[in-house]
This record gives sequence, C-alpha cells and structure tokens, in this order.
Amino acid sequence: MKIHSALFEVSAPNLTLCPSATLPEFAFIGRSNVGKSSLINLLTGKHDLARVSDLPGKTKLINFFAINDTWRLVDLPGYGYAHVAKTDRADFNEAVADYLEHRENLLCTFLLIDSRLEPQAIDLEFARWIIDTDVPFQIVFTKADKISGHKARENMAAFLSLVFPDADPLPGVFSSSAKTKDGRKEILEFITAELPAPIKRKDKGEQMPMLKWLKP
Ligand code: GTP
Ligand code: MG
Repeated sequence: MKIHSALFEVSAPNLTLCPSATLPEFAFIGRSNVGKSSLINLLTGKHDLARVSDLPGKTKLINFFAINDTWRLVDLPGYGYAHVAKTDRADFNEAVADYLEHRENLLCTFLLIDSRLEPQAIDLEFARWIIDTDVPFQIVFTKADKISGHKARENMAAFLSLVFPDADPLPGVFSSSAKTKDGRKEILEFITAELPAPIKRKDKGEQMPMLKWLKP
C-alpha cells in the first residue's frame, strides 16, 4: 500500500474524547519504550509523525493519525512505566483498556514485544488479558536490528509458547526494526488485507474514500 498522507489528528485522554468512530483503526500497544511510536513512523515513512523518546512514558495520551484520509493508526500510552505517579498510571491503563475493549471501529491491535528480551511477566500478563477480552490482535517483535536472528527467534518462541500453550503450530507474528525497516512491508500488507474494500465509482472506476465504517 502507498501512504499518500499521514496526519496527526487529535490526542484523547479517554474513550469519550476520542474522535468519531468513522474510520477503521489499527492501534499499537506495548511496554513503554518498546517502539510503538517508532513503528508508526516506520509504517508511514514520516520520521517525526509520532513522538519518539529514549525516556519511557513519552506517549501519555491516545494519539490518532489519519492515513490516506481513509483509516487511522492509533498510538497508545505504554504500560509498565514505573516512574509516573500511581494514580496517573491507573488512569492510563483504564483509558487504554476502555479504548481496546469498547472502540467499535478498532480493527486490530498490534501488541509490541521487545525481541531482545526473554519473556517478561508484564508482557505475558498483558497478552493474556487481551486474549481474554477477545480484542483482535497481532504480535510484533520489535528492535530486530539490536539482536542476532537466532536469539530473537529463541525469545519469540519462548514468549509464544507461554502465551499460546496449546497452539500447534504457534501463530504467525511480525518482526520489525525501525532502523533497517524490516517488517514495514509485511505489516502494511496485513493492514491492506484487513481494510474493507474501497467503494469504486462505477462511471469512472475511481476509488472513493470510505465515508463510514463500522464493525459488522
Ligand atoms: P512510550 O511512548 O514511552 O511508551 O515508548 P514507545 O513504545 O513509543 O517507544 P519509542 O518509539 O519512543 O522508542 C523508544 C526508544 O527505542 C527510542 O530511543 C527509539 O529510537 C528506540 N527504538 C524504537 N524502535 C527501534 C528499533 O526498531 N531499533 C532500534 N535500534 N531502536 C528502536
Ligand atoms: Mg510512544
């Protein structure tokens, strides 16, 4: 898919203040600093669209980016950031949980896991929560450039076998690197396949933007 336009739309502190649910959305969730904002920049080809930082906890609100005027990427605050006040942290978690569970136009959530790490309790806990909620999700193992392929595969397999103990074979996952651009093509292909087919104008054969999209 070609990204013609990627524009910051709005930041929302909670579900009620999210923009109208008129476009299909793909959200990015994961531990603070795992690379959610970097992955959004990689997918859109815009280095400074979503704010990236070495300091965990950079993304504090739910940020919406309109892509090609027809769908959205949604940057969520990370979980597991210990240096914010507990009350604030609870607010973040509640807003994220609310968004994930109740956003009617959320098509799929990408759960990002750092490929350099052996399975972490906080990621396993989140993965089990998202499975329980029935929110459609895909896993992306990030920062592939920072670890050998062999070690990354070991970490991925260990994580997946803990999250999906009965799966045979284990589900497919994405691997990404904001540095080498690995994973960009595959994730965009996945998004393209998930999006509803564009409405075609019969007379001119032109593609019309989707005006309204709702979950079936
Ligand atoms: P929060 O907003 O704090 O939850 O973090 P985030 O998940 O949005 O992470 P962010 O994209 O801000 O990246 C955190 C740090 O990791 C930054 O210093 C990025 O440059 C770095 N980073 C992210 N993805 C990659 C990657 O694929 N490879 C490398 N080498 N560094 C990465
Ligand atoms: Mg971020």
